[in-house]
Amino acid sequence: MTVTEAVDTRISVRAFKPDPIPEAEIRDWLTTAQRAPSGGNVQPWKTIVLTGAAKDEIIALAASKLAGNPKGEPTDRPIYPPDLWDPYNARRKRVGEMMYETLGIPREDRGARLAWFANNFRFFGAPVAVFFVIDERMGHGQWAHMGMYMQTLALLAVERGWGTCMQECWGILRPSLKAHFGIEESEMVYCGMSLGIPDESHEVNSLRAERAELSEVVQLRGF
Ligand SMILES: Cc1cc2nc3c(=O)[nH]c(=O)nc-3n(C[C@H](O)[C@H](O)[C@H](O)COP(=O)(O)O)c2cc1C
Repeated sequence: MTVTEAVDTRISVRAFKPDPIPEAEIRDWLTTAQRAPSGGNVQPWKTIVLTGAAKDEIIALAASKLAGNPKGEPTDRPIYPPDLWDPYNARRKRVGEMMYETLGIPREDRGARLAWFANNFRFFGAPVAVFFVIDERMGHGQWAHMGMYMQTLALLAVERGWGTCMQECWGILRPSLKAHFGIEESEMVYCGMSLGIPDESHEVNSLRAERAELSEVVQLRGF
């Protein structure tokens, strides 16, 4: 597989086969991803990888915390900036509409949409769950480096025949996750990731999200 193929075929996978991934393969994946670059070689990421009972504990934690409070816990780091503006907001809405269309859930069926969304908090049936931890004292540069690391993991997963879904939705349980994992006081759980072998028979995995035209996002000068 070429890098181009990995980039082009990576999608957010939202249905997985239950097949486990052996620890040795997970270790190899994580070791290779350590080659991701970061300014000053700071490597500002920490990763918690869970399977089996350790993953099930998080699913149970989410179920209990979200049962009476589906919006989750307060955070001073919302997933999107308040009043996200176009074209960004339009893109966000568009991919949501495309996903529910793929699933055959109509716009007005809010119950079915929420029920689908709840799958996030079961890692979409994936055998492995990953959480990315960053020190709150880090600046915008280090946040970007965390993103490079995460994408490196996602591409290496594709090469291995695995799929991933990054999951910033876990941010709504940040205080509970922090307490559960016992991470440092200055650290926070940024994002989750589901990992496993994609269930190709599930319609949600046929979604290919659109991208903006190059002319919207790129300036080529002096060519
Ligand atoms: C950092 C990050 C967090 C994300 N969080 C979620 C999430 O919580 N739940 C979800 O279903 N998808 C999540 N996504 C997936 C995006 O919706 C997806 O990447 C985007 O729509 C483009 O689709 P693609 O990944 O299939 O190309 C996240 C993606 C990124 C990069």
